[in-house]
Amino acid sequence: MEFSWSAIQSIQSLETSRAGRFQPEWRPILLGYFGLTPGMRVLEVGCGPGTLAPYLAAGVNPGTVTAVDLDKEFIQYAEDKAHREGHTGIRYLVANAYHLPFADGLFDAAVSYTGIGILQQPRQAIREMVRVVRPGGSIAVAEAVTGQTGILFKGVDALGRQESYPGAHQYWELKDRLHHALAQKPLGLGDPDWPPEAIWGLMAEEGVINLRINAWGYVDADDDSRHPSRMARIRDNGARELELVRLVRSDPQWKNIFQVKEWDELVRLIEARQNWLVDHAAFDWEAGLSIVMAGTQGL
Ligand SMILES: C[S@@+](CC[C@H](N)C(=O)[O-])C[C@H]1O[C@@H](n2cnc3c(N)ncnc32)[C@H](O)[C@@H]1O
Repeated sequence: MEFSWSAIQSIQSLETSRAGRFQPEWRPILLGYFGLTPGMRVLEVGCGPGTLAPYLAAGVNPGTVTAVDLDKEFIQYAEDKAHREGHTGIRYLVANAYHLPFADGLFDAAVSYTGIGILQQPRQAIREMVRVVRPGGSIAVAEAVTGQTGILFKGVDALGRQESYPGAHQYWELKDRLHHALAQKPLGLGDPDWPPEAIWGLMAEEGVINLRINAWGYVDADDDSRHPSRMARIRDNGARELELVRLVRSDPQWKNIFQVKEWDELVRLIEARQNWLVDHAAFDWEAGLSIVMAGTQGL
């Protein structure tokens, strides 16, 4: 089967979520976190549909960004977007993080945003990033912790479970079962999610020195600039939740998590919850933290 990350995480959901994370006022700060300065030749690994590369390219101008991903659809979309929006200094390429098609020491920096922690073999990808960067160049790997169910948000999650719309109890029960089943059986394309501390250790072992850590956060809330109104945000999140259910439900490896009537019930409950949230949106928010681990090619 051909590799297709876009089948489990759509272009639209990546574009929307990253627009919130890479807010304009953060972009210059992130360049520093990633160890980038003007004039550098930068490699971005796992660039998806080009959600970060344009900001990197603007920041390292007159340097350049080579952005690679294994998903052809993402690369095609990113190229079209660069053309449409007139981005310069970026080259997009279909390539595998495990076997980068570049000579040793070709780049001044290699970076990745949520592109390493999702791999089966993160060490191999980090080894490749180290290989293609010159000694003394920068290596940065960023990972994200997100979601109402993320480790940071257990307290808020518990409050969310106090929701009192009809069917709330079944909704959370089905969602718990769904998440539990998804966690047991990786999606096969990239899972499992490696915790940042494991990635940090791999970077050190693979020859990255002077490691430092930085982080920035965001709250995807009712006043979020990504949504014109609170109502639009509630509807958008509901649509994303339904899309996930539709994708999981149609996948042969997942569809038996629930019986048909339970899938139908989950869809009904998601829709019912969205209607309830319109008047009771107290806990419908999501927060995230992006952690950047960066250092120097020390081989
Ligand atoms: C969570 S997405 C992040 C995409 C992008 N960095 C962003 O934040 O919008 C993970 C990305 O890694 C890519 N990927 C997964 N395995 C890969 C591999 N072996 N080589 C290159 N890219 C890969 C996927 O296609 C996907 O675009």
